[in-house]
Amino acid sequence: MTDVTVPRIKKIRDVYHCPPDKSISVRAVILCSFAHGRSVVKNISRCDDVLSAAGCMRNLGASIEFDGDTAYITGSPFRSAKLDCGNSATTARLLTGLLAGLDGIFEIDGDESLRNRPMSRVIDPLSIMGANIESTDGRLPIKIIGSALGGLEYFTPVPSAQIKSALCLAALNGSAPVKIIEKVKTRDHTERMLKGMNGQIKTIGNTVVCAPSVLFGRDITVPGDISAAVYMMCLALATRRECMIRGVGLNETRSHIITLLRRCGADISIDNVTESDEPYGDIRVRGGVLPFEIGGEDIPLLIDELPALAALACFANGTSVISGAEELRYKESDRIKNTVSALRALGADIEETGDGMVIRGGKQLLFGTVDPKGDHRIAMAAAVAGAAGQGVLISGGDCVSVSFPDFFAEVSGV
Ligand code: S3P
Repeated sequence: MTDVTVPRIKKIRDVYHCPPDKSISVRAVILCSFAHGRSVVKNISRCDDVLSAAGCMRNLGASIEFDGDTAYITGSPFRSAKLDCGNSATTARLLTGLLAGLDGIFEIDGDESLRNRPMSRVIDPLSIMGANIESTDGRLPIKIIGSALGGLEYFTPVPSAQIKSALCLAALNGSAPVKIIEKVKTRDHTERMLKGMNGQIKTIGNTVVCAPSVLFGRDITVPGDISAAVYMMCLALATRRECMIRGVGLNETRSHIITLLRRCGADISIDNVTESDEPYGDIRVRGGVLPFEIGGEDIPLLIDELPALAALACFANGTSVISGAEELRYKESDRIKNTVSALRALGADIEETGDGMVIRGGKQLLFGTVDPKGDHRIAMAAAVAGAAGQGVLISGGDCVSVSFPDFFAEVSGV
């Protein structure tokens, strides 16, 4: 654990290069390891979560070699294995689905934070399909005894791409299709990737139907991570400066943050859009923002961006409210509690509510010490508030490597 000091910044960069998307990189590692043949994944993230996914897939039998930001992956039939998912819930939940219908015994575990996160949200519907999974009170560690799976029609109780993806991956190895209906359409990276690998999958509105399939490897290029770009966007808006972030993923199930920031007055333009399975382009951000109220259906569409938005709200004159975000309590840490305590340590006027927070922005922030509790997104949100305010010391700030290993060099190095 390394402490990191972020000083008040005098200038921001004109141009940032967006780091590769973590969600898509984890999916590429998992699906290419399961598919027949060889895949080349370009611009793959080398963040901790992706390395954890790669470690699991190698234990299952796949061959994965990294060369800079390219991964060469050769799929293989899976063997029984013990899998350490580290901090990555996406890895743990997607693998639970993928492995439930395969022959073998698979033990899945993770770090202390991941052991605290609910797994019952995937185990329950998988059990209805016929899965045999022993858990520790609905959490990790779990033991999957591979068994025959049937079909399922399931209305997800919380909007979650991880639940949807776990069930789609289980369907690949089952004997009948799985239909998943969501109240709000969550990120659809799994669906897009499966379609490109011969997965028998159809999407109609908020409903996805995935049938048993044989996957074939393919070449994939990972776009930049909009959930990482948000820290640069918020830094520019908090300091009322201008910057360009290149190569940002613009999948419409992830880009709601742009709509929201524009709604609060930010001047954002998008150029050089490349249309592919996962579109991407350059984002230019300038100006500042007005206070905002976010709740309801906005929340699942920008759940990972909320700590950064809370930091930004400290620089918008007036009261901002985030509500309907109880899911934040089940992330890498309790992100309602920890965002509030991080920003309060810097002098922000912020209050915790049951399902969100209230931020009275415009108060001068002070230098302070923040403990992000090992949560990468809290550390990065605190860094934005400190850089735009009077600086911050982040205890164990190196936890940013979970999603964005070069974060501090990017935000401080002008
Ligand atoms: C993710 C889905 C979201 C998100 C997480 C990554 C994914 O989680 O918060 O950071 O890669 O599918 P939920 O599915 O729990 O909402």
